[in-house]
Amino acid sequence: MAERISTLVMFGATGDLARRMLLPSLYGLDSDGLLPPELRIIGTARTDLDDAAFRERADEALKEHLSEGFYSAGIAERFLSRLYYVPVDITHPEGFAKLAQSIGDPCHGVGIFLSTAPSLFKPTIDGLANAGLACPTVRMALEKPLGTDLESSREINDSVAAHFPEERTFRIDHYLGKETVQNLIALRFANLMFEPLWNSAHIDHVQITVAETVGLEGRGDYYEGAGALRDMVQNHMLQLLALVAMEPPSDFNASAVRDEKVKVLRALRPITAADVEQTTVTGQYTRGAIDGEPVPGYPEEIGHESNTETFVALKAHVDNWRWKGVPFYLRTGKRMPERDTEIFIQFKDVPYSIFASRGATTRPNKLIIGLQPEESIELRLMAKTPGLDRQGVRLREIPLDIGLANAFSEYRRRVAYERLLLDLIEGDPTLFVRRDEVEAQWAWIDRIRSAWAEKAISPRPYAAGTWGPSAAIALTERDGISWHE
Ligand code: BG6
Repeated sequence: MAERISTLVMFGATGDLARRMLLPSLYGLDSDGLLPPELRIIGTARTDLDDAAFRERADEALKEHLSEGFYSAGIAERFLSRLYYVPVDITHPEGFAKLAQSIGDPCHGVGIFLSTAPSLFKPTIDGLANAGLACPTVRMALEKPLGTDLESSREINDSVAAHFPEERTFRIDHYLGKETVQNLIALRFANLMFEPLWNSAHIDHVQITVAETVGLEGRGDYYEGAGALRDMVQNHMLQLLALVAMEPPSDFNASAVRDEKVKVLRALRPITAADVEQTTVTGQYTRGAIDGEPVPGYPEEIGHESNTETFVALKAHVDNWRWKGVPFYLRTGKRMPERDTEIFIQFKDVPYSIFASRGATTRPNKLIIGLQPEESIELRLMAKTPGLDRQGVRLREIPLDIGLANAFSEYRRRVAYERLLLDLIEGDPTLFVRRDEVEAQWAWIDRIRSAWAEKAISPRPYAAGTWGPSAAIALTERDGISWHE
């Protein structure tokens, strides 16, 4: 086991991620006694604050963002006493010197959490290195966006690698911190019954949906330059796909799991100009209603016309023995009718139905892994409808449905960042993304984007509160498949 760190430095400490996720997650860990007793948390940002003002802001963030009833004044007081603040303007070296001074001897173990615009990664890393903060006891956690394409991602990775070797670089994909995502690994490899069927001989197709009801949430500047493909597919959705499709790793450790994931990512069939119109659909929401409430369209939210996609659906293939001929349909969008993240696996139908002669039809089994808003595992099976069968046998699809919140009701549901921050503090990189994975992800995404550019593909409008443009339905219907809704 790696050494635990004793100082955590949080860049972007006054930002939205820190307020909504990082501070509440660290508080959650502290309240369970999971933070090293001596851990100090140093926030940095451009804003000129002192420790007291930062603690006050952090306290407000906890009150606002902790789940109801979880805030306790006593725990907050202890947690806030761990917080310090050093203003750092990334373009000025003196801020880094002050930060180094406040950290003291980095040999005691330092974790740096960097969440910044891609253009600021290099100056920040260089500033840290120049201030002596790149020594072997310092770990670097990087929050997305790690670039906007393969080239810029390589530049960022190179500038990080110049001072922090891969084993001390922790690239965050917060989906890997989600309990159900890890549960996917347990479901596949802690049970005997799925793995023998987990291949093209028995699986018809896979659908991965990440539907959100939210719009821009004040992140218009970032989102306008990103779009759904880079914001969601490049990272979270491809990680989910890799976990579904990977071969069994030889151990549940960082190298073994990531070795298997990267093989899948590299086996993704490139989507090119020749097939991009048949295999991808993009959309952008116009005004509509969600839950009966009117919501503005994307152009109104962003304040101008735009070509950025807020929805993408695509058909992917993993070109290897296991998955030959099995389509993976991916779909994500903002302003969808409901929040729903799920992995849907449709098996093939039985090879021969003994019930056909009695007038009954079978339907293929389905496994549905719900990630959000509820965590669930559902297996759809065929069962005989009770009765004396005088008019023939009747079969019906019934769900074997497990809500994880009920099955594990004695456990507190944690936010993904609790897990990831604790792994960073303790030095376990298994749930972080390795450089070769990120680059394989970008390589595949870049091909799609250049195919879109070559074919001058623009997003099709869809009304907020619907499941995207109708072309997304046609994408699967052409193959005789419907999206699971
Ligand atoms: C982020 C994206 O990475 O993930 C956001 O930048 C998106 O646009 C968010 O809303 C979704 O995360 P979650 O955990 O709410 O599904």
